Amino acid sequence: MTPASNDDLQLAVSGLQKRFGGFVALSGVDFQAKRGERIGIIGPNGSGKSTFVNCLTGAMRHDAGEIRMNGQDIGGLPAHRRAWKGLSRTFQLPRPFGSLSVAENIYIPLLNCGAMDNGSRDISVRATAALELVGLADKADALPKELTQVELRKLELAKTIATDPQILVSDEAMAGLSHSEVDEILALLLEINSRGTTVVMIEHIIRAVMRFSQRLVVFVAGEKIADGDPQAVMAMPEVERAYLGQ
Ligand SMILES: Nc1ncnc2c1ncn2[C@@H]1O[C@H](COP(=O)(O)OP(=O)(O)OP(=O)(O)O)[C@@H](O)[C@H]1O
Ligand SMILES: [Mg+2]
Repeated sequence: MTPASNDDLQLAVSGLQKRFGGFVALSGVDFQAKRGERIGIIGPNGSGKSTFVNCLTGAMRHDAGEIRMNGQDIGGLPAHRRAWKGLSRTFQLPRPFGSLSVAENIYIPLLNCGAMDNGSRDISVRATAALELVGLADKADALPKELTQVELRKLELAKTIATDPQILVSDEAMAGLSHSEVDEILALLLEINSRGTTVVMIEHIIRAVMRFSQRLVVFVAGEKIADGDPQAVMAMPEVERAYLGQ
């Protein structure tokens, strides 16, 4: 397969590096996404998946490398400007604002990404639509402490959906959930993708990743060791070794 030129790609990351002191958490990662793709990222604990998401979305500053979205270099922009451009993410550990209602928690990313330019009514309309999509409309006025684990994950997704992202990066939205709850989150991510959003799913639950992904990327010790057809990637000896070696 001939790789698309960088200008055709929605996301083109090259040579991404991140160090924590002397420890290299990402050593020159290349990553590309085309519009509307569903990409899975797997890798052992500590392999750099969340660090990759943090650097990609601007939560952390990378040390070297380039991040281009729709042909534009976004690597120097703060997180809220990247979100404003349509690059959105969920956090591995949901930390909602405890004193705000479920709906109000959705206002925060909307305000951060510039949606307030359209007035506050638009914000509440968007929040309501996002809550309906994830099935939390009846919890709009509840406090986060009243939500179950799966509902907290849905709130995390609703916060990103409300911003109408071009690209959604989901960082372990399924961890610790039951089999049927995993299926609920999987169905939501597929629904979001079917509406045109590119979805990058970071996940340890292989059953879910394999059902979701059109392309599978594997991180080991801060390096991308595989990127391609999910079945073919899972059959690679080095991928098997990375998991058996855990
Ligand atoms: N802020 C930080 N300061 C120092 N080291 C960090 C920091 N964040 C991550 N690390 C280290 O970088 C490495 C990669 O961490 P990261 O959280 O990206 O892994 P991960 O692949 O997301 O793991 P998991 O599957 O457990 O979520 C780990 O060794 C981790 O301890
Ligand atoms: Mg992680």
